[in-house]
Amino acid sequence: MIELIREEIESQPGKAITFARFMELALYHDTHGYYMVEQPKVGKAGDFYTSASVHPVFAETIADAVLALWEEADITSPVLVEIGGGTGAVCRHMLERIRACKPEIYKELTVILIEASPYHRKMQQEALQWHEGPKRWYSSVNEAAKQEKIEGVIFSNEWLDAFPVHIVEKNKSGWQEVWVRVGEDGLEECLGEMTPALGEYLRGLNLKLPIGMRIEINLAMEQAAQDVSCLLKKGFVITIDYGDLQEELYHPSRKNGTLMCYHRHQAHTNPYLNIGEQDLTTHVNFSAWKEYGEKAGLQEIGYMRQDRFLMRNGLLHKAVAHMDRDPFTSVAMKRNRAIQQLIDPAGLGGRFWVMVQGKGIRE
Ligand SMILES: C[S@@+](CC[C@H](N)C(=O)[O-])C[C@H]1O[C@@H](n2cnc3c(N)ncnc32)[C@H](O)[C@@H]1O
Repeated sequence: MIELIREEIESQPGKAITFARFMELALYHDTHGYYMVEQPKVGKAGDFYTSASVHPVFAETIADAVLALWEEADITSPVLVEIGGGTGAVCRHMLERIRACKPEIYKELTVILIEASPYHRKMQQEALQWHEGPKRWYSSVNEAAKQEKIEGVIFSNEWLDAFPVHIVEKNKSGWQEVWVRVGEDGLEECLGEMTPALGEYLRGLNLKLPIGMRIEINLAMEQAAQDVSCLLKKGFVITIDYGDLQEELYHPSRKNGTLMCYHRHQAHTNPYLNIGEQDLTTHVNFSAWKEYGEKAGLQEIGYMRQDRFLMRNGLLHKAVAHMDRDPFTSVAMKRNRAIQQLIDPAGLGGRFWVMVQGKGIRE
């Protein structure tokens, strides 16, 4: 992997690539990118946990939220789309819940999974083998939007945080972009001119931040919002991720930005270690996601912390009473512990945010 990146750097006139291009290669290079290789990523055997991997009760609650939205919008033959569904566990548990609670809707349901990773697509196909209704896979939202116009819900958990991002740093002469070049001891960063699109975007933000501050910018999110809106004829987009509104995200207290690396459950901030074998991720700018969505025809109808969203949709009612004593073997205790974990304000409940957008719903 490192050789491929070196070759690409050496082939550039300036002998450097943007951090965004480095991140794209590290995560999505056709044969060696982190998400493209056949290695577990999510869960105990992988590099990180997600809410989805904590317990099926997460997916069950999302399914209840989705059913309520379909009912509100009078969508009776819906399509359920999941983007970046990883192992397929959430989709499987959502379908099981819909089948149990609303068999008449389940019978009419079409499932679409949009997944960039061939490894994850294979896992999803295995996870949904039992589901006999229509199911289709696409490798990008853009590809799906060319073939489908759906009524239903487009759901994602931890999709946007996996996008390659540009990084800029403020110094005395203004903002400069972080580029990656080959140094004596391996890959190293240098500051250089911003690509034109990035410069224009940053000028539009008009940020007043201190010298030394680094921020990440996800330019690809605009196209993603357009593709999502193009795919959706009528219904809702539910986006769950860690992130913040712009004011909090680009705040002096986050001097070094939000880039994090995950390798075998160790979190650190060096993207040049374990290249192709670790996840790289940044916080989502939910202000930008909302704005891009609005430009593309998606109206924000809710934005709240994960704990509030899950509680509003009945998570606490899914706790079970029991007389068990052994925390290692008790299924009920495990379920109740997961519920606590999902709404812990200092953990998943407080760090993750949920944005719900609608299209064709309200006048
Ligand atoms: C951090 S994982 C989250 C997996 C799962 N949603 C969960 O919560 O466990 C990100 C997933 O998004 C997929 N992904 C990343 N970029 C994508 C894109 N542009 N289109 C479709 N899938 C993408 C990755 O392959 C991976 O499966």
